[in-house]
Amino acid sequence: MNSLMIKALAFAAVLIIATLVVVKQMNIDLSDPINMITMLGAVAIAALTFGVSAKYVNQMKTDRAEGELTEENWDGIGEYKNELPGGWAYSFLGVLIWAMWYFIAGYPVNAFSQIGMWNEEVKAYNTKFEETHKNADEATLQQMGESVFLVQCAPCHGETGDGLSGKAQDFGSRMSKEQVLYAIQNGSNQLGYPMGAMPPMMAQGADAEAIAEYVAGGMKGEQPAAFAVCSSCHGADGQGNSGMAPNLAVYDEAVVSHTLEHGKKGQIGKMPSFKTMLTPVQQKALAVYIQSLSAN
Ligand code: HEC
Ligand code: HEC
Repeated sequence: MNSLMIKALAFAAVLIIATLVVVKQMNIDLSDPINMITMLGAVAIAALTFGVSAKYVNQMKTDRAEGELTEENWDGIGEYKNELPGGWAYSFLGVLIWAMWYFIAGYPVNAFSQIGMWNEEVKAYNTKFEETHKNADEATLQQMGESVFLVQCAPCHGETGDGLSGKAQDFGSRMSKEQVLYAIQNGSNQLGYPMGAMPPMMAQGADAEAIAEYVAGGMKGEQPAAFAVCSSCHGADGQGNSGMAPNLAVYDEAVVSHTLEHGKKGQIGKMPSFKTMLTPVQQKALAVYIQSLSAN
């Protein structure tokens, strides 16, 4: 046995001992067969690695290559005109062929995917659902709205739609005074109405107060003169100018579906968008249900 081999074996022994120290330190239970097999694997890998590398280092020292040299010579280092090793060349070709198969016929382009199957099934189901309930009557819509509401909306809006003490919109009234003031001060541009954005600071001081009270009170009684500035976009009756801007008086279908599609960040917090989660019939059902809540 030459000195190189002895060094390699010594190094392998050091690695194995280090592994054993770690096993001891971490209190790994070697009576567990899985742990034991893993341990034996680690020992085998250490021994093999050093056995094989010692063999090749040794070979590099003693082997003498021969054959025809190429004409080029790089600072005294020449290159043999060797044939490509057959095993290497065939593996290289094999990898190329496998890569083509992989992209054309194999995974992932054409393969079965659970997510793809799930999406297809949901799509097919939703189409069927939309078809079945295309002409649903008010009572069915309201029931459907209630059941969707209990799952998707109640966690924030409360089971009865009371907004859980101000954590989310209370559907008993269209909007609180604070919410209207917030919109007057900060403007609003997230709901995607045809009119676009509402600019901030639309009214100030006592005017803003009077308007907010009027809107939050359900737009009953005498309209404050300052509401004229709002009328230009929301309509004289505040009902949104045929869908151009939000209806401030009641929850119409447009307000609900704009909110569901875009979500809303407002005075009391943020509501996420439900764009991909609800079908058009379900959105309509929710609108019907919320209208029934605010009518009470
Ligand atoms: C330039 C047109 C314009 C004017 C003027 C205007 N608004 Fe708006 N308002 C809008 C639009 C458009 C939206 C919806 C914006 C969005 O996409 O969020 C909106 C949203 C709102 C909202 C939020 C509604 C909701 O359901 O989230 C409130 C409240 C509101 N406006 C109140 C008022 C009041 C009160 C005034 C008068 C002081 C007023 N607006 C003046 C165009 C206007
Ligand atoms: C993560 C909590 C959360 C969930 C879930 C949620 N909302 Fe909301 N929603 C809010 C908050 C907060 C507001 C008030 C935003 C504000 O301050 O104007 C709101 C406001 C609203 C408004 C009033 C929008 C306006 O501009 O007047 C409607 C309508 C609404 N939600 C419907 C729903 C429906 C329907 C669902 C179920 C599909 C739902 N929300 C689920 C938090 C939530």
